[in-house]
Amino acid sequence: MNLDELKTSYQQFADKNLSLNIERGQPSNDNFDLSLPMLTAVDETSILTDHGIDVRNYPGGVLGITEARELFCQQIGVGPDEIILGNNSSLELMSRIFSWALLNGVNGGSKGWAGDKPKMLVTVPGYDRHFTLVKSLGFELISVPMTESGPDMQAVEALAGNDASVKGLFFVPTYSNPTGDVISDACAEHMVTFSPAASDFTVFADDAYAVHHLQDTPPPVPRLLELAKRHGNANRVIIFGSTSKVTFASAGIGFAGMSADNIAFWSKVLFTQSIGPNKIEQWRHVRFLREYPGGLPGLMKDHAKILKPKFDVVQEVLNRELGNRDFATWTNPKGGYFVHLRTHEPVASRVIELAADAGLTLTKLGATFPDGKDPENRTIRIAPTRPTLDEVKQAMALLACCIQLATLEYRQNS
Ligand SMILES: Cc1ncc(COP(=O)(O)O)c(C=O)c1O
Repeated sequence: MNLDELKTSYQQFADKNLSLNIERGQPSNDNFDLSLPMLTAVDETSILTDHGIDVRNYPGGVLGITEARELFCQQIGVGPDEIILGNNSSLELMSRIFSWALLNGVNGGSKGWAGDKPKMLVTVPGYDRHFTLVKSLGFELISVPMTESGPDMQAVEALAGNDASVKGLFFVPTYSNPTGDVISDACAEHMVTFSPAASDFTVFADDAYAVHHLQDTPPPVPRLLELAKRHGNANRVIIFGSTSKVTFASAGIGFAGMSADNIAFWSKVLFTQSIGPNKIEQWRHVRFLREYPGGLPGLMKDHAKILKPKFDVVQEVLNRELGNRDFATWTNPKGGYFVHLRTHEPVASRVIELAADAGLTLTKLGATFPDGKDPENRTIRIAPTRPTLDEVKQAMALLACCIQLATLEYRQNS
């Protein structure tokens, strides 16, 4: 289509008074409905766990109940003794660990990080809440590129190898937000073997999408903690996860996987803040997932049945409208919650503006960069999980139209 035809097509979308939103990665109501039986999975007849813990009372420990630890350790690829359960959010657990690290350091470090003007390596494009969290705690953020095989480890090593104020690497190892990339064996190995200047340099792996596969045979993902142990660096790795996109977002369970040594260290620290996390929630999850056909993997397969058609539509529309033409490139993730699109020309801001004016909300420009600024004005994050399939279809057709229109406008004016 030429510019005039695109303007007409865009106007037709605008005339429809659409109200579409592919801004944030939230589950759909159909996804939530799969977990509805969890709401009644604990009642007055089931207040004792298998190990005889009364979920109404304090005793039970800061690590979480055994049954839930045995269940969720599988989600992030650690052993049952290598997981600590939190409350409803992994971000909250991350913020507790980062805050205490600033005050007291981490296991193996004798003093708090705050005095060192600490720096945190973050992958870009990445997750806006990671950036906000560590920045608001006072870390200086240093961007390293996210590649198809994980964080650019040459860059990580160059930055952390000589600077002891670089305290950690914060990234998403499986189906990264927003690119959908999965770390390779070589990347994982590099991460747990290189020599950082800070003896307490920590790999903070936010494995939010560890089990969120879109295909039946998921790619093997390296087990970071196992690898770190094999190389004698067990304490270097902390892996976060949650059930926010397994059961209920904001009403699930957050957790962290780490070495036995780190468990001993962090459980003492976290015990100063709370006698223990919500056991009723943990027990409900265990009882619900025991009954679910196929357990946790069965539930994730049912989620994929709802999500995959939406991701397929994203690819279909983008291929049909923009394929083999010079407008954009995009990822085709095998799991997770996002597709990352890069426009060929620096027009992301204009695309977002055109889409908004025609009734489609996209993720804010620059949200996937630490300072909220996309230096190239090319990145668009697509989050197709929350709307219905039909809404995703409409949203993608409109987005494709906006990308073409913004690109031709740009080319005409430059
Ligand atoms: C990479 C990543 N980590 C963490 C979260 C939020 O997790 P939680 O609800 O457990 O705090 C999200 C939500 O979008 C995410 O994309």
